[in-house]
Parts: sequence; C-alpha cells; structure tokens
Amino acid sequence: MLITASAPGKVILFGEHAVVYGKPAIAVAVNKKAHLTIKERQDSKLKAHIKGLDINASLDLENIPTINHEFQRGILKYVLKSWEIIQEKQKTVPVKGLDIILNIEMPIGAGLGSSAAVTVATLSALNKYYKADLERDEIANLAYQVELKVQGAASPIDTTLSTYGGAIYLSTNRKAEKLPVKYELPLIIGHTPREGNTEELIRIVRKRMEKYPNSIKPIFESIEQVTMEAREALLEGDHEKLGELMNINHGLLDALGVSTPTLSRMIYQAREAGALGSKITGAGGGGSIIAYSPGKTDEVLQELGKLEKAFQIKLSEEGVTTNIQ
Ligand code: PMV
Repeated sequence: MLITASAPGKVILFGEHAVVYGKPAIAVAVNKKAHLTIKERQDSKLKAHIKGLDINASLDLENIPTINHEFQRGILKYVLKSWEIIQEKQKTVPVKGLDIILNIEMPIGAGLGSSAAVTVATLSALNKYYKADLERDEIANLAYQVELKVQGAASPIDTTLSTYGGAIYLSTNRKAEKLPVKYELPLIIGHTPREGNTEELIRIVRKRMEKYPNSIKPIFESIEQVTMEAREALLEGDHEKLGELMNINHGLLDALGVSTPTLSRMIYQAREAGALGSKITGAGGGGSIIAYSPGKTDEVLQELGKLEKAFQIKLSEEGVTTNIQ
C-alpha cells in the first residue's frame, strides 16, 4: 500500500508581527506544496528522504533515542512529532517501519509555510495509514500542536491554510474567517536566505516595542487598520487599493525593524517594474517579499530574478489531499 498526501504552503498578505499582539492578519494558501509518500517496511525502521535536498534520516521506532538522532534535523522534526502524535491516538497499533519520501516545492524557512505543509501532509497520510479516522478539523488542530511542540510558539495561520486551503482573515478574537476570493491572485515571490529565524525577529520587534511603546503601539494599530481595509479590497477585487495597502503595510513593517537592504531593494525594484504593491511577507530579516502585479507578472518576475530568486505563485483553494494506491 502506497499513501500520498499533498498540502499547500501559504503567504501572509497583511498583518504579520502585529498578529503576535492580537491584531488581525490575512493569509492565503498557495500552489507550492509539500508532497509526502509513505510505504510500509518489513522492519521497524522509520526512514525519510527529502527529494532534491540530499537529506536522509533513519531511526528504529522500537527504540527511539531521546537525543542525537537524524530526525532532530530541520523539517524532519515535524515528521517525527507528527508520527508520535498519531501513535498517541492509536495506542493499539503495532509498530511497523515506514519509508517516507518528501518533495517540498517551496524553499524551506522562507516564510512560505513549509513546516506546516509538511506537518499537515504527514498527519493526513498517517491518519489514512493507521486508519485513525481523524476529521479535517482534528488534523488542523493536531498540526498546530505539532508546530507548538517543535517551535515553542506558532500562530494557527499556517496549519489552518495547509489543511483547508483558500484565503483567511484571522480576526482579533483568533477566529479564522474564510474569505471568498473569486480571482487567481497572482503574486511574485522574491526570496533571499534568511539571517534570523521567526523567533529572533519576533524578539527584535518586542525589544523595539519595549523601548518605544508610545511609537510602536500605534504602528500595530495602523497595521490593524490596513489589514481591515485590505479585507474589503480583497473581497471587492480592488487591485489598486490592495497594492497601495501592501505598500503602506511594508512601510510599517520597515518601521518595526524587520526589513533588510536586500528585501528593500527587491520591494522597490518590483514597484518600478510595475507591481501595484510589494512588501515583506512573514517574519522578515531576509526571507521573502511578495509583489502584486496583475498584468505585469513577467516584467516583475524578470526584474526580481536579476536580483535574487523569484517565482510566481497563486492562491490555492485546495487544502490537503490524500490518495491511497
Ligand atoms: O515567516 P513566517 O511564516 O514564520 O511568519 C511569521 C509571522 C509572524 O507574524 C512574525 C509570527 C506569527 O506566528 O504570526
């Protein structure tokens, strides 16, 4: 039996960082996915291979060491934690080994939700393999628990979008409202290697907030206003307004201290090449920018490609899918 699962990544369109302080955010699932295949083994080994990255890991499921094993590296932590969480749900299942092959279409650690996509795909495939009968809501919730356990902190944005797809507005009361976006929403990603991880960037913003609370709190409030207006613009398909609001949101993120010279260069280059709007997406400090350029996609892609890695994405209405062969 061969089980495959595919789950989309995401981009944050509006509200990153302010969302950590209870403000709303808008994010969409994108057509860059994590694909996972599992196949039963005859022994009790869990083996994983990430295609294209030359990453291989192996451990004995009957005797999992507490430290120093190959599943403690990077994104494989999410795979093992997902396996452990499913095991807790299925205490009676005998331990049998598995071969896991991952194909991750988005760059890892670039703010495109690779860890959530891998987690949701792993949980969904294991759910089928162990016949755990988990509903989609439970998968989303368990995936969020995996992210919390591995990272210590996480927002439910990534795991929600990897599970359900589409566009969401995360409101101040932490409810994810599905936004019916009826057009393709073509976006360009410009991507540079990240200097700091999400936690470090959250710390940088917190320090700035503690040092200048009277200046920084109003920035969070402005981001909230921008996000609320962007929700309307997105629903109405007001492309000009969406672009302008992205530019305003970027200025506010810059003021929070999470831009870098390379990100700024890409952002301004994208606007010069015809983007209606461009901004950091995700935590910043390197990582990715998004540019919104309906009708000018090729021009923006070409210009950004001269500076850094650039590729096109669009909204994915489809969430996680599984298939048994
Ligand atoms: O770059 P990412 O996808 O890790 O985005 C982080 C966005 C923050 O708002 C900074 C943190 C969060 O969990 O929402």
